Amino acid sequence: MSKIDDILSHYREGSHDSLIPILQDIQEAEGYLSENAIVRIGGFLHMSTTKIFGLATFYDRFRFFPCGKVHLRICNGTTCFINGSTSVVAAVREALGIEAGQTTRDGRFSYELTSCMGGCNEGPVVATGETYFTHVRVEDIPEMISKLKALADLK
Ligand code: FES
Repeated sequence: MSKIDDILSHYREGSHDSLIPILQDIQEAEGYLSENAIVRIGGFLHMSTTKIFGLATFYDRFRFFPCGKVHLRICNGTTCFINGSTSVVAAVREALGIEAGQTTRDGRFSYELTSCMGGCNEGPVVATGETYFTHVRVEDIPEMISKLKALADLK
């Protein structure tokens, strides 16, 4: 049984109310929502894939691409914004050559913008997994990316 089939087996077929929990479970298990997953969910819930995709894109927590080996979350909450997160995002974009929501060609990096991560007094905040970088400045980005490249190469 595939991971997706296993997840679907915990829900009632045709129950549209289960859509968001199913999307969450599959993203947690697979890291993102693939086209195949959306098609399987559509068949299970008797919903069109267009409708599922439309609903899923309404929530910024869902991803439709496989993350890089290192996936950065850059806080875009109000306090981090006031403290310069926009410049940090621009520096990350320039260093990696990708936009938020994309993955580098070598598969090492991806990043997303998030809402408040709860460290407002220490913003701007950037995180990957359980590692948090606080008071991040634009000039910190090249060294941060360089260190994280080494981490990505170990994965
Ligand atoms: S606004 Fe960034 S941690 Fe709260």
